[in-house]
Amino acid sequence: MLFNSNLRLWKTHPAAWAAWRSLLLRLNPPAAGLCPGLGSRDMSDGLSSVSEERPLHTPVMLKEVLHYLEIQPAQVVLDMTFGGGGHTKAILNTFPEVTVLALDRDPTAISLAQQLAKEHSGRVKPLLGRFSELDALLCNMNVKPGSVDAVLLDAGCSSMQMDQAERGFSLSKDGPLDMRMDGDRYPDMPCAADVVNTLDQQALASILTAYGEERHARKIASAIVEARRVNPITRTQQLASVVAGAFPAAIMYARKDRLQRPAHVATKTFQALRIFVNDELNELHAGLCAARSALKPGGRLCVITFHSLEDRLVKRFLRGHDLSNLDQYHFSQNKQGSRKDKLLDKNRECNKSAHWFPVQRKVVTPEKDAVRENPRGRSAKLRIAVRQ
Ligand SMILES: C[S@@+](CC[C@H](N)C(=O)[O-])C[C@H]1O[C@@H](n2cnc3c(N)ncnc32)[C@H](O)[C@@H]1O
Repeated sequence: MLFNSNLRLWKTHPAAWAAWRSLLLRLNPPAAGLCPGLGSRDMSDGLSSVSEERPLHTPVMLKEVLHYLEIQPAQVVLDMTFGGGGHTKAILNTFPEVTVLALDRDPTAISLAQQLAKEHSGRVKPLLGRFSELDALLCNMNVKPGSVDAVLLDAGCSSMQMDQAERGFSLSKDGPLDMRMDGDRYPDMPCAADVVNTLDQQALASILTAYGEERHARKIASAIVEARRVNPITRTQQLASVVAGAFPAAIMYARKDRLQRPAHVATKTFQALRIFVNDELNELHAGLCAARSALKPGGRLCVITFHSLEDRLVKRFLRGHDLSNLDQYHFSQNKQGSRKDKLLDKNRECNKSAHWFPVQRKVVTPEKDAVRENPRGRSAKLRIAVRQ
């Protein structure tokens, strides 16, 4: 398989992810249709107001973000990952007259941003869309390239998404195997159940290796293919048991997370599927490019990542590596120009001229007390750079 023979290339050239993913989807198109009832989901279900006492998502490294963004009164800040609004709220409350452009691909998050916009009239501008759509959204809002003072990108999923069983992100809560961050906007986009039930065994194993760094990918892929012969895998707990069934019972919780707590043996499988379904790495690269074009010279970028695939990509991007030069790797690109190919072209263009001053040579990690209070931030890494 293309991926397996290019494992080293994969580790060192993150742009290979994008080409491999689109090639795999072209060879193995998952049939959409196994995720029920998205349109009828109540977007406010289980969610309370963004301004209530108990936050929907505890912002990670808040103190550090407020410090490193160096925001001045009346500046324009772009929060590329509004989520539960934790960082945005703190920015609004700390820095007078600042305006926050609040992007998120998840309509549930944007409905919270709209609520916050009503409470802080004129100071919050909600933007519904993906990183890869940001340039166009800013243009529609008459925000000129090179005019934003500071940008925050807090990658991955929010607690709101993880905690709602019906979103299908959580290993510990039973729900439909969905995992789409914006399935409401793109109902034809394949969900995790579509991927698990329609891709062939080799393709599934490649996804688990690539996006989950799962050592037992082949064993898990084989268990999935066996199980779906009997019944389609449509629920999160069903998938968790199928994965667990591939291992002896004693090792179900034998893996440890960074806090040395027992981690379920399917954790990496869930991570891999979520990244694949939402095309997260390609989107992250597009987001970094969009941040660069939005920022004014001297403007600051803070990026928080939660696993090594993301952090590696951010580190290389900020060092000005070309993450998009795929021509030498013989991936067959569709010259007709699908949406993904256009995104690759755009990312390639962006990287040619990426120049940043690092603010900290070393990555910043959360303090021990903060991790104790909010264990979800345990693997967070913050990188800060100034746009030249
Ligand atoms: C970790 S949460 C952000 C939490 C937020 N900083 C807070 O304090 O509440 C990440 C958010 O980014 C959004 N997101 C992830 N990928 C995205 C993309 N490609 N485009 C736009 N939003 C994205 C997710 O929907 C999620 O709401």
